[in-house]
Amino acid sequence: KLSTTASRNNAVKYLTVIGGGLMGSGIAQVAAQTGHQVILVDQSEDILSKSRANIQKSLQRVIKKKFAEDPKGGEAFLSDTMDRITTQTDAAASVHTIFTSNTSSIPIGDIAVSTQRQDRFGGLHFFNPVPMMKLLEDTPGFIVNRLLVPYMVEAVRLVERGDASTKDVDTAMKLGAGYPMGPFELCDYVGLDTMKFILDGWSKNYPDNPLFQPSELLNKLVSEGKLGAKTGEGFYKYEKK
Ligand code: 3HC
Repeated sequence: KLSTTASRNNAVKYLTVIGGGLMGSGIAQVAAQTGHQVILVDQSEDILSKSRANIQKSLQRVIKKKFAEDPKGGEAFLSDTMDRITTQTDAAASVHTIFTSNTSSIPIGDIAVSTQRQDRFGGLHFFNPVPMMKLLEDTPGFIVNRLLVPYMVEAVRLVERGDASTKDVDTAMKLGAGYPMGPFELCDYVGLDTMKFILDGWSKNYPDNPLFQPSELLNKLVSEGKLGAKTGEGFYKYEKK
């Protein structure tokens, strides 16, 4: 076991997050909040300025709670955290860098074969919204998505069969199981494109598992560009922010 000083010396201090979308900006935010120097990378300055704006918005929500009685402390927390995040469009990483992927469904071993740094490669699976969700998975089986995605797709199949409406299912799961969101609210929150991507990968790799079969309704909504809250419509309609 490493001594405290040694652990501190060996701790990760610098992080490069590739992708400034929903998950990437959340990961960059929590890393910066916990004192890490972060470089956030995406394809254009336009995307990166949106990522910074989203991080700032999320930090304001954290501050409202954590610094309710200390506005000066809140301001310092905001500027210190934002100062730790720089952005760039170049994703080059030095050879000693430990490379981890936030993939939600692709087995990490399948990605690892294409890297030359297999001793410095792994999976770190965060959950949306990253600043609120306390779990971080590094197990090969992805416990949460293995249970959560079939559950959400089973809810879609229930509606496809005409057994209940989306609203009924959501109300039932919130009131009957105490979930903060029903499965359709959660599908829209996660993104129907992400759901489809996960399901397509699994049904290709495990064609005999009935839980992983494609869903016509999900495919239809995705083909119409109805990807959930982020596009203004998925199973439900949302007001554009
Ligand atoms: N940043 C900072 N704070 C946030 C936030 C964000 N992005 N989102 C929510 N919050 C805070 C709010 O400010 C609020 O704070 P308060 O209690 O001081 O007012 C608190 O969280 C609660 O938010 P709301 O009142 O707006 O709404 P809820 O009580 O419904 O909470 C929720 C929102 C935390 C998103 C909750 O509904 C929830 O836990 N939903 C389930 C989320 C879930 O299951 N995520 C996993 C998805 S699967 C996944 O990500 C894996 C991937 O691979 C597919």
